[in-house]
Amino acid sequence: MADNEIKKGLAGVIADETAVSKVNPETNSLLYRGYPVQELAATQSFEAVAYLLWHGELPTDEQLDEQRATERAHRALAPEVKDAIDRLPLDSHPMDEVRTAVSVIGAIETAGISNVLDAVGTPEENLQRSLQLFAALPAIVSYGQRRRRGLEAVDSRDDLDYAANFLWLTFGEEPDAVVVDAFNRSMILYAEHSFNASTFTARVITSTLSDLYSAVVGAIGALKGPLHGGANEAVMHIFDEIGGASEVSGWLDKALAEKRKIMGFGHRVYKRGDSRVPTMKAALDTLVAHYDRPDVAELYETLEREFVERKGIYPNLDYPSGPAYNLIGYDTLTFTPLFVAARISGWTAHILEQQASNALIRPLSAYNGPDERHIAEYEPDT
Ligand code: CMC
Repeated sequence: MADNEIKKGLAGVIADETAVSKVNPETNSLLYRGYPVQELAATQSFEAVAYLLWHGELPTDEQLDEQRATERAHRALAPEVKDAIDRLPLDSHPMDEVRTAVSVIGAIETAGISNVLDAVGTPEENLQRSLQLFAALPAIVSYGQRRRRGLEAVDSRDDLDYAANFLWLTFGEEPDAVVVDAFNRSMILYAEHSFNASTFTARVITSTLSDLYSAVVGAIGALKGPLHGGANEAVMHIFDEIGGASEVSGWLDKALAEKRKIMGFGHRVYKRGDSRVPTMKAALDTLVAHYDRPDVAELYETLEREFVERKGIYPNLDYPSGPAYNLIGYDTLTFTPLFVAARISGWTAHILEQQASNALIRPLSAYNGPDERHIAEYEPDT
């Protein structure tokens, strides 16, 4: 690559090394710390996968118990956070709610730091902060959905692991094992994906020696966009718009004629299919059977088949996740906050890695504005 060649969107640019995950579009594989994500989704809890991302190895039973005890101790919503959410309009976007909540937590947790040079914190502090945010997000996301539905918040259940407790917090009833399993898998699949836009945002912010919370707040902002995490919400709007499998053809004719982007399809890195989709589609299938909703699978498969036939562009993870979260009972606008709750593990693993081997991220730009000119020569348009 010539030194001055512009790579629009940084496409194909290798910005740094990472040991957190490896995306290989050639073999259609995704490894977290060396383990294929499909194997992790089939055998591990999301908490164990978060441990793996942070520490580099899967936990022993003792290590997992210890992490779970800390996670349980930090599940409750702090009154200041609840208060901040309550002050937002009921029709604020849930991603704005989550972003605000994390910002409030950051302001509380870093209160008293009077020298900006200390903002970054120690590796131990940042690991602890990562686990605390991981623990708090289910309550934040669930509180938001219940608030919009006019429901009281429910308290966490110490007898439930992360995924089951998350569903309990949202719906206030004991979740079925099949739903917990599908939800746990979705969290693992969403946990990490190398230098995607939100993770890179977190690393850019971290590289200035800002604090972990600021990096996460920035990452949430990046994730909200429909070209990134917002796509899982956008998929559901499309499903609602289409209505049923028999409407797909006509809808697609019109959408493509209008040059619309079909949400949940395409990927910057994977060009022959997203490695995570088969696992999430299998989880969606278990939900389709559990809720007896063959119409959802029919619409899903028809749109996939017709779009791939016409454009040769394959679904990404947001395509099966959207309808899966819908079947579980999440509001469409809550889908991307669920992505936040999962990706907090990957973001913070990258923040820790960036802190351990930091270089300020500051690329160059090619100037294409006016040539140099001077105020003395300025003549206003009349
Ligand atoms: N629908 C219609 N056309 C598409 C789509 C799509 N979903 N994706 C790509 N294309 C077309 C695009 O219009 C372009 O065509 P042309 O060359 O004729 O202009 C060509 O394919 C290349 O697309 P691109 O947008 O330049 O490629 P990219 O690598 O920048 O895009 C993407 C990747 C994810 C932004 C894009 O595929 C997209 O907008 N997809 C829909 C949004 C989406 O599902 N995002 C989730 C991404 S993965 C998971 C996540 O992060 O949450």
